[in-house]
Amino acid sequence: MKLHHVLLLIPALALASCGGSEKPSPAENGETPETPEIDLAVGAEYYAITCTPCHGATGMGDGVASEALVPKPRDLTNKEWQASVDDEYLRKIIQYGGAAVGKQPTMPPNPVLGSQPEVLASLIAHVRQMAK
Ligand code: HEC
Repeated sequence: MKLHHVLLLIPALALASCGGSEKPSPAENGETPETPEIDLAVGAEYYAITCTPCHGATGMGDGVASEALVPKPRDLTNKEWQASVDDEYLRKIIQYGGAAVGKQPTMPPNPVLGSQPEVLASLIAHVRQMAK
């Protein structure tokens, strides 16, 4: 190993050794969590409970509360829209809400998902499979 490699390792080791329980979770420090386990049933259940009132059961934007929303949530089944956004965008708007991505705050944040990366990833997978 060359000397500059050793020098680069020192701060990395120091960080690793003092991380302990204070290390923020990947979702908290803004990184995409490493391959959280995806369970489509878990994603579908979270969606049904939390998202359906506004987005509708199938993502068409026709939930019971959608009438009152300006603008209305778009049709999440639209293939062109699906292709235009990456998973990182979906993660951000779902976890932090519309305002975090320059959209309306009527799209609420889901802070609880910050500590449940596998539920968040499963929910995103559920939204992805809505594409028609
Ligand atoms: C209180 C109503 C409400 C709830 C609950 C809600 N949303 Fe939304 N959502 C909205 C509205 C309104 C918009 C559109 C905001 C805009 O276009 O400025 C939106 C936008 C979005 C978008 C972005 C679409 C785009 O135009 O880029 C996604 C993705 C999304 N919501 C997913 C979800 C998911 C997943 C859930 C459940 C965890 C959820 N929403 C819960 C109202 C809601």
